[in-house]
Amino acid sequence: MGFEKELREKTAWVQDAIEDFFPEEESAAFAGNLAKAMRYSLLAGGKRIRPLLLYESCLLHRADPDKAKPFMAAIEMIHTHSLIHDDLPALDNDGLRRGKPTSHMVFGEAGAILAGDALLNYAYETVLNGFPDSYEEDRALAPAGCTVVREVAADHMARRWRALRILAEKTGMHGMLGGQSVDVENDKRGNLTPDRPMLEYIYENKTAALLEAPLMIGAVLGGANPDEIRRMEIVGSRLGAAFQIRDDILDVTSTEEVLGKPVQSDLTNEKQTFVSLAGGVQEAEKLVRRLTDEAVGLLEEVPGDTAFMKQLIQKMALRSS
Ligand code: IPE
Ligand code: IPE
Ligand code: MG
Ligand code: MG
Ligand code: MG
Repeated sequence: MGFEKELREKTAWVQDAIEDFFPEEESAAFAGNLAKAMRYSLLAGGKRIRPLLLYESCLLHRADPDKAKPFMAAIEMIHTHSLIHDDLPALDNDGLRRGKPTSHMVFGEAGAILAGDALLNYAYETVLNGFPDSYEEDRALAPAGCTVVREVAADHMARRWRALRILAEKTGMHGMLGGQSVDVENDKRGNLTPDRPMLEYIYENKTAALLEAPLMIGAVLGGANPDEIRRMEIVGSRLGAAFQIRDDILDVTSTEEVLGKPVQSDLTNEKQTFVSLAGGVQEAEKLVRRLTDEAVGLLEEVPGDTAFMKQLIQKMALRSS
């Protein structure tokens, strides 16, 4: 099967899987508008790259993708929360996202703040609701005749907790939110000499952390060892940096129609980016290619079929929208 067809099919699978977990307006009673705002941003579109990476990492590490569905939905909810808040007037102050007016333009600032908060919280509700109440489900995973059924069940439960811890850590102050907070401090610094350590911190955290998490979670759910989990983290880190530098390049070179979000946003907010640090788009392009090659190179060392994941990484880093 060609890569593009496989990508379409896998994205459709992931889209179906995550939609099952999205909040229902009917279940929200008087908070119907909150649920409506949460669904508005979740269903506005998006490449679904994070749940897709989790799906691929499950396949690579022999974890059952069906059992990882709540984690797939959760990571997309957390990502969407980050976008709603990123667009707020107090942050990037952008009016278009995923080709539609941003949450605060439709639901007001209070509505968007609360929809973002609620998505972050609902992500954890979704994962925790997917945890079995007893070991019964996990016991069934033990092979027939297994004499250590309790141990097998406990191991599967421990993997889920470990995966949940990664999700929380990569999202919070030591991950995406830490990066966003420094990125806010990066406003109005566009004319200063680019600060490489600060920019590296921002890219590693605001963007890479949410790409590392799904790669690591798939490995953890499949029972990978610490070295294998760490390798996934490094792949995510290189992909994340390349992905964000590509985003910065497109902010300079693309159009609102193509991206579905405003362009020149970084310039308007007078932010330093890797485009300014590298000294222009062409040099930034070289950086994207180097980081992408590193991510792909690391996957060369991983046993198993990594062909699709490598192509996906290349496509994401070299994308034009
Ligand atoms: C946008 O993420 C924010 C960045 C980290 C650059 P995506 O480019 O994955 O956005 P969607 O989900 O496809 O809308
Ligand atoms: C955003 O980076 C990263 C997060 C939302 C965590 P940007 O601010 O560059 O993303 P866009 O360009 O608005 O999608
Ligand atoms: Mg931003
Ligand atoms: Mg932004
Ligand atoms: Mg951007």
